[in-house]
Amino acid sequence: MKTKNLAYVATIVLTAGGLAAAQFPGMRLTPAQMAKLKAQQRATQADHRYMMDILHLKRLRPGANGMNPKAPNADNTDEAKANPYPNLPDPLISNSGVPITTPTLWWTLRRPEIVQDFDRDVYGYVPRNVPKVTWTVVSEDHGISHGIPIVTRHLIGHVDNSTDPAITVHIPLTLTIPARASGPVPVLIHFGFNFSPAMLKAFLAMLKARGVKLPPPPKGPGWKQQLLDADWGYAILIPTRYQADNGAGLRSGIIGLVNHGRPRRPEQWGALRAWAWGASRALDYLKTDPAVNAKEVAIEGLSRYGKAALVTMAYDQRFAIALVGSSGKGGATLYRRHFGEQMGNLAGSGEYHWMAGNFLKFDATLTANDLPVDSHELIAMCAPRPVFISYGSPKVEGGWVDSRGSYMAAVAAGPVYRLLGKRGLPSATMPPLGVALLSGDIGWRQHHGGHTDLPNWPAFMKFAAKYIKAPPPLKQ
Ligand code: GCU
Repeated sequence: MKTKNLAYVATIVLTAGGLAAAQFPGMRLTPAQMAKLKAQQRATQADHRYMMDILHLKRLRPGANGMNPKAPNADNTDEAKANPYPNLPDPLISNSGVPITTPTLWWTLRRPEIVQDFDRDVYGYVPRNVPKVTWTVVSEDHGISHGIPIVTRHLIGHVDNSTDPAITVHIPLTLTIPARASGPVPVLIHFGFNFSPAMLKAFLAMLKARGVKLPPPPKGPGWKQQLLDADWGYAILIPTRYQADNGAGLRSGIIGLVNHGRPRRPEQWGALRAWAWGASRALDYLKTDPAVNAKEVAIEGLSRYGKAALVTMAYDQRFAIALVGSSGKGGATLYRRHFGEQMGNLAGSGEYHWMAGNFLKFDATLTANDLPVDSHELIAMCAPRPVFISYGSPKVEGGWVDSRGSYMAAVAAGPVYRLLGKRGLPSATMPPLGVALLSGDIGWRQHHGGHTDLPNWPAFMKFAAKYIKAPPPLKQ
């Protein structure tokens, strides 16, 4: 299989349900892989239980079952039942009831309040004492990609672990820039999945055994080539290298290092915020690289990394633009919606590590309607900067990601964009599949395929061109 195909297969298929073999019972693993997975699951269960205990939560409401439509808790895909809590918190009324009528009130009162609410109850606070990261360029390659000369720098961000030398945390990053640029280039940071070849092989074998046919990759240049063609560079960041994608890993990685290997407290950051922290540290490096225009740095990710991309963009105002792919619940989709994935999925042992521990309360003693914020305010935190929201087709991708719930959130973020002199979405009505909304400062497109953002890249590049001006290539 060609590399491009492999990457495509990896993004569309492996991300669809997460990588844990537990979610794919037919997947054959070696005894060693299986033992490792079992131990990890036990440690995750114990950590999840510990968090419930310190929050005094007896029981969580179970999430939706997206695999079996006959299950009693099968995921809802009936629009008539999708809005049990239609009233969203107003992004332009402060928690104490002050109408937010000026940009100054937004910046000084309302936005900080929203940030605090997300920190405390949804994604968790980044602790004050997160150690410093020192970047080194390990090596540099020169090459040619589709006729464009490129330079790739392999970097490592070393996290200072002098307070706890037993826990080592590194942030690997590869940066590729077009060598022909006449000035500093815009760069897109891509949150990348990291599949071991063994896992990928086992997974593909399972799909073959089940007779699952993979759709062909989209025609035309891949995302890297589209960026290079537009005189951008790109950087690949693998977030699981500095924070694992499971609850067992909360006692190591950057979250564990800050806590000296002890469990996290309910208000502390989860993996999404930790992944976003890594992207911010990568941007710190980019600011020091003379080949990069650090004012034109974009962030992109799909699925759980679509959530991470939106969290990065919302919190770190140095990011210029974002492409948020199929982010669903925990990302751009409204928590108050009852469609597809539910709070109970995010609060369960398979996903709670993405969120703050406090989030679990909203799936136990409280409900989504008690959240002081909702995802429209995460989008509003990005304002006035441009955000492009991408999904596939509800038929092919499925209802799990609740694209309509994201559209509603994007519409509801509009008043904040307008207050800041920008435009949100140009229409309150969802456009048909394949129609891109590019005229506002929130962009939108749903393609006809499944769980990937690749077919929406050309639309994103058009949207981005309104804001990002890459330097022309040098004349040969
Ligand atoms: C699961 C999960 C989603 C997540 C997705 C992914 O489906 O429920 O919230 O976005 O995995 O990241 O692959």
